[in-house]
This record gives sequence, C-alpha cells and structure tokens, in this order.
Amino acid sequence: MQFFVDTAIADEIRELNDYGLLDGVTTNPSLIAKSGRDFKEVVAEICQIVDGPVSAEVAAMDHAGMMAEARVLAALADNVVVKLPLTLDGLKACRQLRADGIRTNVTLCFSANQALLAAKAGASYISPFLGRLDDIHLDGMALIHDIRVIYDNYGFDTEILAASIRSGNHVKEAALAGADVATIPPAVIRGLASHVLTDKGLDQFVRDWQATGQSIL
Ligand code: E4P
Repeated sequence: MQFFVDTAIADEIRELNDYGLLDGVTTNPSLIAKSGRDFKEVVAEICQIVDGPVSAEVAAMDHAGMMAEARVLAALADNVVVKLPLTLDGLKACRQLRADGIRTNVTLCFSANQALLAAKAGASYISPFLGRLDDIHLDGMALIHDIRVIYDNYGFDTEILAASIRSGNHVKEAALAGADVATIPPAVIRGLASHVLTDKGLDQFVRDWQATGQSIL
C-alpha cells in the first residue's frame, strides 16, 4: 500500500519524507488555507520535496474554469496530480485531462456509483472519504470494499486512494480492503510506529544493557 500524507505543511512533509515513509502528498483547499501559504508556491515547494504524486485541487466549479486551472496546476511540476470534485463538470474535465495525459484525483467520493463514474472518466485516483462517512454513522470502510470489487470486476486502472483517514485502525482496515493508497494526516502516520509494548520493551532493554556496563562502539 502506498502512503500519501494529507497536509500542505512543507516542514511536516520534509520530515516524513526523510523517514522514507512517503509515496506522495494530497492537499485540498482547507489544508492550503491552514498552511497560510500561497497555493501555487506551496504546491511547487512540495513537488520539490517528494518524487511521488502531489494532488492540487481546482477551485472552479464549472468545466471550463476547471480545465483552465488544471493546466496552470499541471504546469507547476511533473508530479502534480490535478484534483477534481466528483461532479458532472469534474468528470467531464477528468475525461479531457486523461486524453491530454494529465493525471487526476477525483475527490469527495461518497458512493460506489460515484467511484464507478470516476473510473469510467479515466481518473488516475478516486478518493473515497472514509472518516466523513463514519462521522454521519455510515460505514466508510464498506465503501472501499465495494469499490475494490467493482474496479476488479471490470479491470479499471483507477487507483483507490482511501481518504479522510482518522486513525491507525482506518489505515489497517483500508489495507485489508485492498485500497491502493491511503492518504494520512501526519500525526496518524507517526502514530503507526507506536505501541505501548514497544515502549515498555525498549525501556527494559535500555536498563538491562546499561547494567551490563558494555559498549558496542
Ligand atoms: C483527501 O484528499 C482529503 O484532503 C482529506 O483526506 C480529507 O480529510 P478530512 O475529512 O479529515 O478533512
């Protein structure tokens, strides 16, 4: 499973990339606002930090506007993936960008039928939002399972990008469900390495090693 980090904070991306844990990055207008940075400037910087795909979302709602913005975003760097909303205009732009050789991430997906349409439109990635479905007491993970079956039934090459991930359990369940990618907040990525028994075991090893009085170097 590929790991993308879901943030527009360049320093956090740099840190996680240095651990070798990142395959890509996703941003959205809310994350850009949170960064307090100029959109194009921060996307260009992120694209320099990571080699993998960096999703940058259009702001326009209409097809012509999306196409114009998509071309500006795609010109920022070779690894930009244009993020489009799952609307009819977004799907039309997706089809056209595919024909132009520009990769897309169709976002705000909340149903299997929406995911089917995105695959038919030639999306590179579909982003089902698990956490937001869970927030309204629906089963976000069931959506990932459904999309996996549908895409495999027809051999679609659209990658399933599990989004709106809130916990390590979401990451594990998405991996079990066969998501190709998970986009994960930085704190959740760091948390994946933690276990109370790892900390406890390490404390004991440190104490026992010190008691030996030895040194490896
Ligand atoms: C994905 O691309 C989205 O930016 C993100 O995962 C949304 O997560 P949220 O529901 O926590 O805002």
